[in-house]
Amino acid sequence: MVTQFKIFLLIIALLSPTVIFGHTVTLEDKSLEEIVNNRMALMQKIKSISSQISKLLQSDDYNTIIELNNTLLNSAKEFKEAFPEGSQYKTASEAIWLTKDEPDNPDKVDTFLEFNNKFVSDIEMISLSAELEDNQMLNDAFKQMAANCGACHKKFRN
Ligand code: HEC
Repeated sequence: MVTQFKIFLLIIALLSPTVIFGHTVTLEDKSLEEIVNNRMALMQKIKSISSQISKLLQSDDYNTIIELNNTLLNSAKEFKEAFPEGSQYKTASEAIWLTKDEPDNPDKVDTFLEFNNKFVSDIEMISLSAELEDNQMLNDAFKQMAANCGACHKKFRN
């Protein structure tokens, strides 16, 4: 009985690499799901905050605009890092992974990196114009920022 139990333990021990490997694959699948869900959630947040800001463009509530815009800025920065190697998935174009890490080159305006950097700097312009309480500049900056949505989707969404 004891010998049989030892043999049983030995078999378990020999099988465990397979078990661990099987477990790793599952974990990776789960984290891919998490990565994709996270970046979708970021985009939903970006959409919602942009819409909230757009409703305040004719107001003089610059403090609220700055507060919302800070969240927008953080979400855009986070989004930029939301495409690690191996997280290719359906709606995101393969072109993202081919161009997301290229060195910042002003001549290469068509890379995912450049689209993200432009998005971030256009968001920063909104904060600047709100700090200056310049309504005309604010409206122009918002329009400029919003143009990034369609431009990036056209190029990097399947
Ligand atoms: C730098 C590129 C880029 C910019 C700028 C950008 N998006 Fe996206 N967006 C994407 C990509 C890529 C996806 C698809 C992500 C994926 O499939 O993993 C996406 C997905 C989305 C989705 C779908 C999310 C879901 O749950 O299915 C919405 C909504 C969205 N974006 C809204 C916006 C809005 C609104 C703006 C502008 C305020 C914007 N995006 C700016 C690249 C961008």
